[in-house]
Amino acid sequence: MTLDVQNLRIAFKMENRLSVPVRGVSFSIPDNGRIALVGESGCGKSLTSLALGGLVDRAEITGTIVGSPRIAYVFQNPMQSLNPVMRIGRQIEEALPPYREPSSAAEGNSITSLLRSVGLPDGTERKYPCELSGGQQQRVMIAMALAQEPDLLIADEPTTALDVTTQQEVLDLIYRIADERKMSVLLITHNLGLVARYTQYVNVMYAGEIVECGETHNLLTQPRHPYTQGLVAAVPRLDAPKDAPLADISGTVPPPWNWPTGCAFHPRCPKFKPACAAPDFNGLCFCLRENANS
Ligand SMILES: Nc1ncnc2c1ncn2[C@@H]1O[C@H](COP(=O)(O)OP(=O)(O)OP(=O)(O)O)[C@@H](O)[C@H]1O
Ligand code: SF4
Ligand SMILES: [Mg+2]
Repeated sequence: MTLDVQNLRIAFKMENRLSVPVRGVSFSIPDNGRIALVGESGCGKSLTSLALGGLVDRAEITGTIVGSPRIAYVFQNPMQSLNPVMRIGRQIEEALPPYREPSSAAEGNSITSLLRSVGLPDGTERKYPCELSGGQQQRVMIAMALAQEPDLLIADEPTTALDVTTQQEVLDLIYRIADERKMSVLLITHNLGLVARYTQYVNVMYAGEIVECGETHNLLTQPRHPYTQGLVAAVPRLDAPKDAPLADISGTVPPPWNWPTGCAFHPRCPKFKPACAAPDFNGLCFCLRENANS
């Protein structure tokens, strides 16, 4: 097991309120796992992933994280992550561990071979970020992540800023390298098409909680939680009639200092019933309980 997260809670004391964006999240990432974390904006996906690497400041964090894999991140917007006034080679050099045994893995992680492994030509190390396309910049970010020889790569919306063909190239690259290096990958995304293509297991997050999880194919073809059903229904289909309205989930994610009582999804849920909003709601959606009992 690469990582086992139990009951992770992240809270921020604001001036006059307590904000709890992550509320008791549990999930596992097996060795060589291909895991997805999905959900709307503001559900706590990035915070959860940052907490795995100890990167959340000024927060009250409770829960247990068992396992200490080397974690590297690839974020959404490479231009914001790269230093615009430093050559690529220098930036990759900074990402290399300060001292490495002279092993073949270390050899393979020289700047040139890292750049080659992500499909960038020799000479890229002398360029500045502004001389590269968005896809090339993201390849540089992947090279920097690989420089750390991670066991777990967390890719947080890695291709949102890229066009569709480049998206596929970059993700194909990430997963090819993950296969070669036997790395686990946690993919954070809004794009269920990418989840279907690249992952084996999905965790669906809403309002700081994992509301449903399961093997990717099952979860996407037979979603049980109304929120997951809404996410799946919202995926545009090429075969839909032209005049059919696009499905959506009405309303928005509430702020993390004001979660609704009971099931946090209840103000937006098409299957709402009064018991869903009761203060003693036990956290498991009635639809999942019904299916579990059937
Ligand atoms: N350092 C922080 N201090 C206080 N609140 C924060 C902090 N970081 C994030 N939050 C809040 O936590 C909530 C979850 O944020 P997070 O970035 O994890 O969302 P997300 O699911 O990754 O969304 P997106 O899909 O837009 O990236 C948001 O309401 C955000 O404002
Ligand atoms: S518990 Fe009720 S409100 Fe919440 S998702 Fe399930 S059916 Fe909807
Ligand atoms: Mg995020």
